[in-house]
Amino acid sequence: MKTINAQAPSKSLGTPVSTADGSLTMIHPEHGETYHTQAGAMAEARLLYVESSGLAALWQEGPQRIAVLDVGLGLGLNAVATLTAWNEASNPGPLVIHSLEINRELVAALASGAAPWQERWPAGITHFCLQLRLESPQLYSAKVAHQSAEATATWHIHIHDAATTEIPPAPDLSGYTHVWQDPFSPEKNPPLWQAAWFSRVRATAASSCVLMTYSVAGPVRRALAAAGWSWKKIPALLPGKREWLTATPSAAAT
Ligand SMILES: C[S@@+](CC[C@H](N)C(=O)[O-])C[C@H]1O[C@@H](n2cnc3c(N)ncnc32)[C@H](O)[C@@H]1O
Repeated sequence: MKTINAQAPSKSLGTPVSTADGSLTMIHPEHGETYHTQAGAMAEARLLYVESSGLAALWQEGPQRIAVLDVGLGLGLNAVATLTAWNEASNPGPLVIHSLEINRELVAALASGAAPWQERWPAGITHFCLQLRLESPQLYSAKVAHQSAEATATWHIHIHDAATTEIPPAPDLSGYTHVWQDPFSPEKNPPLWQAAWFSRVRATAASSCVLMTYSVAGPVRRALAAAGWSWKKIPALLPGKREWLTATPSAAAT
């Protein structure tokens, strides 16, 4: 990965680096992979996850019951982009996000509102993170009131190894409506790209669930198919990559 515009390193969290849309990402201190594309960290969160999934458009239609499984909270960009789109919709209905993250320090930094990558965030975005409270050693939660409608977003961050811990169930029995599949690359983090993982996610998903991810790698597509997901490549809306991937539970899968 390129390390353009690198700023002062943060010892345990990595080194902040500017991306093409002006938002900051971090370079992982151990394996050197960036948390986001250099083509625009916040733009990727919005364009790949919130918009290409159809979620932003769905909220324009009226109130929805949305439950998002956010795999790899990281710097929280996918979560805050989701909360921002929800807050901007005039009457979106309730939103629940369950974020999974193994790195406790990352979550504590995000909840402080003063993490290195939050430096350029508008106050309205940092506001979501400042609502996070430590509920138990493994759980931060926030309740966010919508800016104008009578609706609440609930954001839970679970600090554990997703590969070996039960996935938190979706708030209602029909399952997650959306999955943001955003771990580090299959080369750096194989367990969260294997069929066993996608089967577990499938078991928590609504029949109409939309899974979004940046990786179109052959092994990822085969693992999804083996786990009962129908995948489709879609055009990437940022430079540097031709395609992204979306998947939904196969009708035939049980
Ligand atoms: C590419 S980053 C995610 C970026 C993030 N979605 C965002 O919007 O900023 C991947 C994240 O997955 C986390 N992760 C890696 N392995 C994990 C595991 N087994 N369980 C939970 N989180 C994990 C990493 O610590 C890292 O923060």
